[in-house]
Formats: sequence, structure tokens, C-alpha cells
Amino acid sequence: MKLPLQFRHNGRDVALFVDGGESLLVALREQIGDLTPKFGCGQGGCGACTVLIDGAAHLSCLTLAAAVEGRSVETLESLKDGPRLHPLQKAFMERFAAQCGYCTPGMLMAASALLRRNPKPSRAEVVEAISGNICRCTGYEAIIEAVLDAARAAA
Ligand code: FES
Ligand code: FES
Repeated sequence: MKLPLQFRHNGRDVALFVDGGESLLVALREQIGDLTPKFGCGQGGCGACTVLIDGAAHLSCLTLAAAVEGRSVETLESLKDGPRLHPLQKAFMERFAAQCGYCTPGMLMAASALLRRNPKPSRAEVVEAISGNICRCTGYEAIIEAVLDAARAAA
């Protein structure tokens, strides 16, 4: 049975019908057409699908689409301001913190949630914030430094 669903997607109201068991990741990618949250494992183990729900980081593959009724969902698509990159995106670029880039949307959203609740995180807090996000390319050091750079730039 299809369920009606309304929520805010990157500041814009959207309305759609979803299956009861449909994940938010599938709804975002296949119904809304926002391909920035990535399908990695589909089981909560990689973080590639991380989005913000009411400002906090969540795994969209483990979140039922129906659970975001009336809530605000933000994806990587919302991070930059027109042509201006978000400080996190700029820092990732400058630090070469993305290689294949598959993990990058999830990393950026996890880091974005961290900087919103804690604008001056310690290195340990950055490590903790991205601990659910797997990167097979960078070795993490560049990512951690990029998040710290972005925090310093914002300050
Ligand atoms: S795709 Fe969601 S955690 Fe891997
Ligand atoms: S940049 Fe390739 S998985 Fe992270």
C-alpha cells in the first residue's frame, strides 16, 4: 500500500507516495531524483547515504521514508550556496580529501552536522563524528584535516 508523504527537501516542500517499507535513501534517489546521497552497503555500515534530518546526521538507508513526514531533510545538494562552495567543500578540495568521491557526500553531511552543533571541534570530536563513514581511498587523514580547516575558516 502506498502512503502519502510530505517533507521539506533542501528547503523545498515535496509531496510523494511511498511504500510502507521504503527507505528514505530510495525515496530521495528514485522519486525525488536527488542522487547526492549514495547507496553504499544499504545496511547501515558505510555512511555513504548520510543526510541531515532536522539538522542531525542520519543514515538514509536505515530510515523509513515515512518517518520524515513533516520534517526537514538536507542532502549534499543543499550545501553550496549557488556557485559558492561551502567551507567544508572548499577544504576537502584544498586538502585532496576526496579521491573516488563515493564516500564524500556522506562525509560532508556528517561533518556539516558536527560543525552545526560544535563549531570548534577537537580532532577527537571530528574522528568521532565521521567514525560511521567508511572511506576506501584517502586513509582519513586528509578528511580530518579538511574538517578542522573548515572549522577554523568559519571561526
Ligand atoms: S548505504 Fe547507508 S550506511 Fe551504507
Ligand atoms: S574518496 Fe573514495 S571512498 Fe572515500
